[in-house]
Amino acid sequence: MYNTPLIPMDLKEKTFFLRTFGCQMNENDSEKIAGVLVSCGARPAERAEDADIVIVNTCAVREKSEEKLYSYLGRIRPRPKAGPVLIGIAGCVAQAESEALLKRRPDIDFVVGPDNYLRLPEIIARSGEGKIVADEWSRDWQEAPAALFRRESPVTAYVTIMEGCDNFCTYCIVPFTRGREKFRPLRLIQSELENLAGRGYREIQFLGQNVNSYRDPETGTPFAELLAAAGRTVGLKWVRFITSHPRNFSAELIEAMDASPVICRQLHLPLQSGSTSVLARMNRGYTRGDYLEKIARLRQRMPEISLSTDIIVGFPGETEEEFQDTLSALEAVRFANIFSFRYSPRPRTEAAKGTDDVPFEIKKRRLIEVQNLQKSIQTDFHKSLVGARMEVLAGGPSKKDPAAFAGRNEGYQVVNFRSEKDVTGSFVRVEITGSGPYSLRARIVED
Ligand code: 5AD
Ligand code: SF4
Repeated sequence: MYNTPLIPMDLKEKTFFLRTFGCQMNENDSEKIAGVLVSCGARPAERAEDADIVIVNTCAVREKSEEKLYSYLGRIRPRPKAGPVLIGIAGCVAQAESEALLKRRPDIDFVVGPDNYLRLPEIIARSGEGKIVADEWSRDWQEAPAALFRRESPVTAYVTIMEGCDNFCTYCIVPFTRGREKFRPLRLIQSELENLAGRGYREIQFLGQNVNSYRDPETGTPFAELLAAAGRTVGLKWVRFITSHPRNFSAELIEAMDASPVICRQLHLPLQSGSTSVLARMNRGYTRGDYLEKIARLRQRMPEISLSTDIIVGFPGETEEEFQDTLSALEAVRFANIFSFRYSPRPRTEAAKGTDDVPFEIKKRRLIEVQNLQKSIQTDFHKSLVGARMEVLAGGPSKKDPAAFAGRNEGYQVVNFRSEKDVTGSFVRVEITGSGPYSLRARIVED
């Protein structure tokens, strides 16, 4: 029921280049796309200019994300000698706007939505017969064989547990690009966790547009129990999940996080606005008070928890007073990190049916105010960590200096440190020695 057959095609002579924009789910999807192509014999190319097939995995969540696709396409040059290159568009822009894409860029050969990646070999084999659009939805979860993923990291793995969203926040295009919620069966998630842990993966990031609404489609088991199951998987050390919706963030979930030795004390909980009236216009389903109360409960149980959020400024009708509510919410919570955006109208969304009435200059000024305030909050927070000892999962060495490493701590903050030994992919114990607004500096310690 959940397995979509991968129809193998011979792509042995082909090379491909994959460019990914957007969120972690797109990154994980690109690992799947690359795996599908490699399983048919295609080889990755270093640069778009050298590839027979260029696939752009796109993001449609904001106007600016979409513009990146067009500016990237404008920069791909036709190859001088080696024959025509196939250009394919995957991801959210492909799903939402296939017609517009083909009209705007006649050099695109195929457009493939997120539910159709296992069909890519067949699509590639058929292209040449004319433009191909594969944007059908699937109502059920589609399981891709675990061995197919060409994972970027040998220690951190993304594991998608649900896709789609039923929330219809009035600014958001996601329900139109990823469709309605569909959940991956728990038994399949569990077997993937065991497989990953067995292969040496230590950190897992569960992915979904709205992970807290997860229910096992076969047994109804809720998200809190999935977290508990992850805690029982031998070998895993850090488990994170993204994204949570504040409305579904329940007391049981707080308990499940607190009870688990492997769930990181870190949470991304998008607030969007600190104003109750804006939140109502956004159809978020909670008030400023509800949100602050949940944060208080979380901190009561886990005082050390590291919190991050998303903020939109300049939502239609946002008054100066409503904007001030966002600033005061940031002061009240003091997030470890935020992602902030100027509102942009997205096709098919409710908010785009009205006017985008906050002038660009005001949106710009509000975004700067939000970012300046956050910068000072983070600067203070990071200073308070100097002298603390903690574990860091090391990424690879810096390109410029092989002894310089960047990693992340349990709270997901960036920590830079030096090591003469290659520590890529391992947990190292460090002491924080310095700080800036966006990262920490540290030295390795023995104990
Ligand atoms: N305009 C600006 N920001 C948006 N986001 C989603 N849709 C829009 C939009 N139309 C932001 C939200 C969301 C994040 C992924 O992108 O903050 O949480
Ligand atoms: Fe978009 Fe809202 Fe769904 Fe998040 S919860 S994906 S913001 S509609």
